[in-house]
Amino acid sequence: MEKRMTIQNLCAGYDGKQVLHNISLEIPSNKITAIIGPSGCGKSTLLHCLNGMLRQETGASVSGEILLDGQDTAAMQEDQLRRQVGLVSQTPSPFPFSILENMTYGPRYYGVRNKTQLQQIAEEKLRLAGLYDEVKEQLHKSALKLSGGQQQRLCIARALTAEPRVLLLDEPCSALDVQASAVIEEMLTRLKQTYTIVIVTHNIVQARRISDYVAFIKDGRLVEWGEAACLFASPQQEETRAFLDGIYG
Ligand SMILES: Nc1ncnc2c1ncn2[C@@H]1O[C@H](COP(=O)(O)OP(=O)(O)OP(=O)(O)O)[C@@H](O)[C@H]1O
Ligand SMILES: [Mg+2]
Repeated sequence: MEKRMTIQNLCAGYDGKQVLHNISLEIPSNKITAIIGPSGCGKSTLLHCLNGMLRQETGASVSGEILLDGQDTAAMQEDQLRRQVGLVSQTPSPFPFSILENMTYGPRYYGVRNKTQLQQIAEEKLRLAGLYDEVKEQLHKSALKLSGGQQQRLCIARALTAEPRVLLLDEPCSALDVQASAVIEEMLTRLKQTYTIVIVTHNIVQARRISDYVAFIKDGRLVEWGEAACLFASPQQEETRAFLDGIYG
């Protein structure tokens, strides 16, 4: 198993209150890792540690080590880390511009000026996110006019314009119906060929369907993690079993 990220003894908290306790976990390359656990257990906090966001937050504290391809992320420049580890949050938040401008915002910022090249990047990433055919006639329309599922895919496509190595998704399907969720799942399964994906989901059935690895967190502690097929079929820890039983039972 090739590792994209290694998390060692990660502790994190807000205003002196510890939320994550000694988490050690590996994120395998080009796989989907699902983070599951009860509400408030620290899943979003963990994602915010992975892209360095938590370190920027006032009152928040982070300790331990997070490596990206062997490199200590604490030593990386903030914008470099954000670029390599993209985060798409739970509520899709397109910029209040056109679809095209959403897609070219990042590349422009990174210095791409050529119009044709910007168009190409936009098209390529929209295709990857499975959105291009739906929006190709309306690239100049406001992104805010898209449906929830389309906005979510736009935000994923926009995150891809930074060419991240890792894509973090915080409950990408929570506001979507079954059909829109299925479109996202199909896309993620395709994207893992190119990107490493970490997804927080409340939907255990979804985690079972799409994840290769799964980590179960409870009260800020990693209870267990491993290959999804093994963990779901025979959890090693009683707490994991109880959590999974509680959801199915
Ligand atoms: N910015 C913040 N300031 C202070 N406390 C916070 C902040 N963000 C989260 N917390 C606290 O940290 C704990 C973990 O929150 P977190 O959002 O990481 O949980 P979660 O597992 O993502 O929950 P959910 O499933 O409901 O999204 C909670 O007790 C929460 O109240
Ligand atoms: Mg959360």
